[in-house]
Amino acid sequence: MRPKRTGAVLWFTGLSGSGKTTIASNVYRELEFDGVPVDYLDGDAIRAVFPATGFSREERDAHVRRVGFLASRLERHGIVVLTALISPYAASRAFARTLCRNFIEIHVSTPLAVCESRDVKGLYAKARRGELRSFTGIDDPYETPSSADITIDTSVTPLEDATRRVLHRLHRSYAQFEEQVLARVTADAHFDQKLSFSPNVAHER
Ligand SMILES: Nc1ncnc2c1ncn2[C@@H]1O[C@H](COP(=O)(O)OP(=O)(O)OP(=O)(O)O)[C@@H](O)[C@H]1O
Ligand SMILES: [Mg+2]
Repeated sequence: MRPKRTGAVLWFTGLSGSGKTTIASNVYRELEFDGVPVDYLDGDAIRAVFPATGFSREERDAHVRRVGFLASRLERHGIVVLTALISPYAASRAFARTLCRNFIEIHVSTPLAVCESRDVKGLYAKARRGELRSFTGIDDPYETPSSADITIDTSVTPLEDATRRVLHRLHRSYAQFEEQVLARVTADAHFDQKLSFSPNVAHER
């Protein structure tokens, strides 16, 4: 009874410019190349579809819940789902975890100073000038994950190493899942065996 397909949700969280999209895109390419069914939900792409989504705590929470739900549905069909959202609040990340079966939290922990010096989208400069409000790391909190499955600081970890670590963790999760299935099948077999030797069952023939 080997599962034909095992989905997973690879949840990338971290500051803007930390490297979520860059790593997730690389992992996506590798998985696609290997023929793994994979989908990618990037925060920016989701916001483009739901343009009214703002950056208040409530709106960020709704954004994360929406993506968490969608990821959990895809995962059930055996798809490996990569998500790349800042997802700054611990409670909404925890909520997303409860929806999913094989949720792997990847904290891209690149320090704020490095993210700000990269300023890929020019948003840190705007936030510092006060042109943007509620910017994570500047005037809105990032709640550091306390039990991330992987932590990657891209100021010291090259992209190839980061990609390898994520893929390795994904494969380990499959092995754990298969062990659980095997343990369940073995337990069921023992139970069936007990039933067939039960005197009550014999009387009922
Ligand atoms: N080792 C590395 N891993 C990933 N990105 C790196 C690394 N070294 C440098 N970078 C650079 O850091 C930047 C990360 O930007 P990226 O768009 O991936 O961040 P992000 O976390 O998705 O931000 P946002 O939340 O704003 O979408 C890119 O320009 C990338 O080239
Ligand atoms: Mg991004």
